[in-house]
Amino acid sequence: MRIGVLTGGGDAPGLNAVIRAVTKSLIHQGGAEVVGIEDGYLGLIERRVRPLDWRAVSGIGALGGTLLRTNNRVSPLSYQGRDRRDEVLAYARELGLDGLVAIGGDGTMSIADALNRHGLPTVGVPKTIDNDIAHVERSLGFDTAVTTVTDSLDRVQTTGESHGRVMIVETMGRNAGWLALEAGVAAAADIILIPEIEYDVARVAAVCREREARQRFTVICVAEGARARGADVTVQRRVEDSPEPVRLGGVADVLMAQLTPHVSSEVRTTILGHVQRGGAPTPSDRVLGTLLGDAGAALVLSGAWGHMVSLEQGRTGQVPLDSVANRTRTVPGDHPLLLCARRIGISLGDG
Ligand code: F6P
Repeated sequence: MRIGVLTGGGDAPGLNAVIRAVTKSLIHQGGAEVVGIEDGYLGLIERRVRPLDWRAVSGIGALGGTLLRTNNRVSPLSYQGRDRRDEVLAYARELGLDGLVAIGGDGTMSIADALNRHGLPTVGVPKTIDNDIAHVERSLGFDTAVTTVTDSLDRVQTTGESHGRVMIVETMGRNAGWLALEAGVAAAADIILIPEIEYDVARVAAVCREREARQRFTVICVAEGARARGADVTVQRRVEDSPEPVRLGGVADVLMAQLTPHVSSEVRTTILGHVQRGGAPTPSDRVLGTLLGDAGAALVLSGAWGHMVSLEQGRTGQVPLDSVANRTRTVPGDHPLLLCARRIGISLGDG
């Protein structure tokens, strides 16, 4: 049996742990030959592969990034104006691939689903720091990103306190607020703004003024997809000819401009950016990556093509790729952590 492995979409800490586990499990249990496809789906279009043997994947589990590199701009469904699925299928046949393991987020899973239907047997393994994949209660990379954001919020708090400022920290997360919510609670942010709850500028300003009177400083954790009531999301850039052309970013500066006229203290912003995706995975993400990689190998060995590894109620399982493709798991209004945040007096910018 010969199996291809690729990482697609934005990288996430823990991907190397998945590559290691899926490869070792396929070799150890199935006697398979594993082929690494470089640069995500681009490697299938531009024909870039490398052998993944036991040695190649040894000692990589603690490393950030992805050994195979990745790409979040390319889809074989439409690349440079043409559908490349036939070319990809022909290349996979030339390589003698019996199947493909695609490690990625919802975008990667939707392409995996399309390739599987087109005749390349494919399974999916989920990852994203956004924690927004359907049927995955805690996604790979999320724990590391929460740790990084929490550390940043802690640091911003001490300097904000020294200067008596309103400190706004912007996190990634696309249209889901998991990262801002969890790190915001962990670091005891005063205000957490997430995409799922439109914020009221007057209310946010009122909370800052109350804190000016009492404690002099305020820490706001805002998710990149958050927006004021009735306003649009803040777009940082458009990446044309990409499966996901809109890249969010910059809402912290928008919020600073909205708040400045209404508060006495200086308002400053920190946009965390890619530090949230970089660096070594936490032990928890290394363990999760290992479990997910091994579960991906199990899908291959049982012939469960067209499925992705799920994680529900603490256990891995399998769900059809099309039940995940292009769906976003957002924070429900009655999520226990959200309700808890409200009860302990953290403002969510509404009400
Ligand atoms: O999906 C992961 C993610 O980091 C999002 O949180 C963010 O919106 C996006 O990727 C950024 O993508 P890029 O690295 O292309 O700017």
